[in-house]
Amino acid sequence: MSEKIMIFDTTLRDGEQSPGCSMNLEEKLKMARQLERLNVDVIEAGFPIASEGDFEAVQAIAIQIRKPVIAGLARANRLDIERAWEAIKQARRPRIHTFIATSDIHLKYKLRKSREEVLAQTSEAVKLARNLCEDVEFSAEDATRSDIDYLAAVLEAAIQAGASVINIPDTVGYAIPQEYGPFIKALLAKIPSRGKAIFSCHCHNDLGLAVANSLAAVDAGCRQIECTVNGIGERAGNASLEEGVMALRTRRDVLPYHTDIVTEEISRASKLLCNLTGLFVQHNKAVVGRNAFAHEAGIHQDGMLKNALTYEIMTPQSVGITASTLVLGKHSGRHALRNKFEQMGYELNADELERAYFFFTKLADQKKEVYEEDLVAIIQDGIKIIPDIYRLKYVHSAGGSQGISSAAVKLERGEEIFVESAVGDGPIHACYRAIDRVTGLPGRLLDYSVNAVSRGKDALGEVFVHVEFEGKNYIGKAASVDIIDASARAYLNAVNKVIHEKQRQAKSPDVSTETAGTN
Ligand code: KIV
Ligand code: ZN
Repeated sequence: MSEKIMIFDTTLRDGEQSPGCSMNLEEKLKMARQLERLNVDVIEAGFPIASEGDFEAVQAIAIQIRKPVIAGLARANRLDIERAWEAIKQARRPRIHTFIATSDIHLKYKLRKSREEVLAQTSEAVKLARNLCEDVEFSAEDATRSDIDYLAAVLEAAIQAGASVINIPDTVGYAIPQEYGPFIKALLAKIPSRGKAIFSCHCHNDLGLAVANSLAAVDAGCRQIECTVNGIGERAGNASLEEGVMALRTRRDVLPYHTDIVTEEISRASKLLCNLTGLFVQHNKAVVGRNAFAHEAGIHQDGMLKNALTYEIMTPQSVGITASTLVLGKHSGRHALRNKFEQMGYELNADELERAYFFFTKLADQKKEVYEEDLVAIIQDGIKIIPDIYRLKYVHSAGGSQGISSAAVKLERGEEIFVESAVGDGPIHACYRAIDRVTGLPGRLLDYSVNAVSRGKDALGEVFVHVEFEGKNYIGKAASVDIIDASARAYLNAVNKVIHEKQRQAKSPDVSTETAGTN
């Protein structure tokens, strides 16, 4: 019988805090629901002391997501721990995850504390957390660059104080598998109370070794892997959930372990995250990249036709990728649309179906063929989780390779109609300036991308923008067969998020600003 490896997903904490990955409350909830479908064991929902927004998101996830353990991160001090507990206490299975650094580099330059002080702080923090919550995880930040005997003493103290999960992070992604595995084995041997805790690994990907290191840690005795969907995270990211899970599943012959992940949900989780953050994975990314199952060379295609085992070590179906099919035509009705969405795993309520149908008929008029990818774009774009406070009625632009571009927009907000125009360096710049004139919220465009959603010259173009408003970054997205139209609506999507956030803050005014950050 193989041993179970627990999957601790930190997409919404370590992943979300990296540049370009921030999500609002509704988006985090959406992602958390998908993580629950994926059947992860633990969702680290955020770092509640970091900001009011983080606190609210962790609390909402704790209340609404009932199957997995919900963890909240806290530095090893009273304020952080109490704030984390406040956010997660309504979870069915709450966990406080507290941490402090143990390497001499961090002690000397960051914490300015002695080894004895950090040891004492560990015991105190874990005891405090344990008084609030039965399930406490302790992490020794920068463990892999810590003195092994000192680290063992700190971890022993954490277990004695009541921590039942002990994490040994490679915070800076410095370890290599041949070193990390033996390091963990030797470390465990030095901890007298090791039998009372589950050991966990948390690897960063600075040298591209995060998954390999996690597998080495499992072989050395860790029974929990901390990871993120698509490997997002600080700097080069964290260990990627899909790669670790599929390695364990595909190489059961040499890795006698299993996870409870519903691997058929992997592709959907990956795509959802891309859509929420606008951060796309490279085409050749293992497991979830567009080319991960594409066989291009003639000799490979020939082999695949004879027997898929020739070049395929896992099936696309096992990670939830199904062949892209032509789905519906302009005469398809609501019933057919609902059935198709259900087959694709999306359950729509009556309202959502009505809106999806409206967008579908519009698209089917513009486009000859509608594919599954188009339908995904429809629900991601058409059924917005953020209300359309400003709506685009039309955009008209003029540009070219020479001269100044111009754009005119007509926007609607409630009963009010606004018309503005502007010139700019290209039609999109002009269009954004015209929108800024209406909203009075000047944005700074940080990133812009456009992708073809499906195939053909009339493919839907999906635009993602990262825009800074009042010092904060927002992501906007929209899809259309006309990329200027998609660009304008993507920008408005970001504007609407700013206004939505302001409206929410006005309802709960004691909003603190960002106070903390970690890897
Ligand atoms: O990388 C790290 O050390 C962390 C800890 C807070 C677990 O993210
Ligand atoms: Zn980390």
